[in-house]
Amino acid sequence: SSAGQVTVHFINRDGERLTATAKEGESLLEVVVNQNLAIDGFGACEGTLACSTCHLIFEKNTFQKLETVSDEELDMLDLAYGLTETSRLGCQVRMKKWMDGLTVRVPMDVSDIRRQLGAGEQS
Ligand code: FES
Repeated sequence: SSAGQVTVHFINRDGERLTATAKEGESLLEVVVNQNLAIDGFGACEGTLACSTCHLIFEKNTFQKLETVSDEELDMLDLAYGLTETSRLGCQVRMKKWMDGLTVRVPMDVSDIRRQLGAGEQS
């Protein structure tokens, strides 16, 4: 791919593969938002580490190469449903050149604390 562009694939909940062209330095949340990817409820807190709806599951060898997770991210990850050993929050992972061709999986369920607090208000 051309300079500064990185291809990333998201495996959505229904198994559909969404492919996007990202810019180096963009977070995975920004990729989803900027490319209008149809991932329901993704990134509810807009990257402020206040939800866990941007939970993504990485392949093991990619996961090991990612930058270290911060305590704040770990705290929020603990609240994510379906946490795996290779889970990260998409808003905290920035695209790098070496990630070209990356595949990440959207977990089946998301937990948005704010939605749980507001449960029962659906009309
Ligand atoms: Fe809420 Fe990442 S978008 S923690």
